[in-house]
Amino acid sequence: MSGRLVRCDDRAALDTALAAARAEATPIAFVPTMGALHHGHRALVERAATLAPVVVVSIFVNPTQFDAADDLAAYPRTLDADLDVLADVARTRDVTVVAFVPTVDVIYPDGPAATLHVPDVTDHLCGASRPGHFDGVATVVDALLTAVRPTVLVMGRKDHQQLVVVGRLLTLRGHAVTLDAAPTVRDDDAVAVSSRNTRLDASARTLARRIPRALGDAVHEVRGARATGDPVAADAVVAAARAALTVDGLTVDYLELVDAERIVPLAGPLAPDGEALLAVAVHVRTGADGSVRLIDNVRLGDVADEQRLLDALAAAPTDGPADGSGVPRAPRPRAPQG
Ligand code: PAF
Repeated sequence: MSGRLVRCDDRAALDTALAAARAEATPIAFVPTMGALHHGHRALVERAATLAPVVVVSIFVNPTQFDAADDLAAYPRTLDADLDVLADVARTRDVTVVAFVPTVDVIYPDGPAATLHVPDVTDHLCGASRPGHFDGVATVVDALLTAVRPTVLVMGRKDHQQLVVVGRLLTLRGHAVTLDAAPTVRDDDAVAVSSRNTRLDASARTLARRIPRALGDAVHEVRGARATGDPVAADAVVAAARAALTVDGLTVDYLELVDAERIVPLAGPLAPDGEALLAVAVHVRTGADGSVRLIDNVRLGDVADEQRLLDALAAAPTDGPADGSGVPRAPRPRAPQG
């Protein structure tokens, strides 16, 4: 049954597709998505393929996690291209990929409503600036996990708060599944890959390049303090990042240093060996009068995560002064995937 794509639009079809795997206790990896698959999603699916011979990918634009109707309407929908990507992963990785493409009625038989709330870790960052968003995420992830019953759930670290919320959800709802967190994938200009990036025009894309740059500036600030063994004030970390974002066309929604597990503001300075999440959400002006909200983060004190970001910034050519103070240049053309 390997090396093929199976599309399922409802739970009965999903149960049929997964019956043999379940009967034989074959591991099932699950990647939830809202479609518009990009190479970041592909990396998640390929990672899932290393964890299990059967990979379920859901494609469902979840209405209950959008706080604005126009954001939901503008969300890109590219189902045919998405299925092509999944078929290619199935073929090249020699795994069975099950594309679960439910309608709203399948996920919400009683009508779309967010019925779950994960407390505490949803009080700040996106939880504060997008009220109800994580209730919708928790509700849909719970419904999807109930339908798929995977052994491992693969999600990306770009949405760090979502990852923490889902981790809590697994405990609260008793889902016996391992949560596997995959590193953020960045384009050649260091911008974190997101389905929303397709809505950026050329000048907005240039502005967006300041987001990873801001995080990188904060990493340098922390590394400087770490080298002297001094704690670094949260305000100093945030100020180091804010400079790159202070420009016409960018509106910072939040830029905060928080405890990475509890998602609350850091109580004191960041110790030289301490860990914290620097998280950012920015509205990037695009087109005549539009904007796109992008998020990104770096886990300070997680040397591998810091280094991945710095490497991406170093690999992104810069415009402007030779001292590197310019923003990274436009992405180089990518080699075809596959
Ligand atoms: O990260 C996303 O794409 C969505 O929030 C998710 C997890 C698929 C739930 O709709």
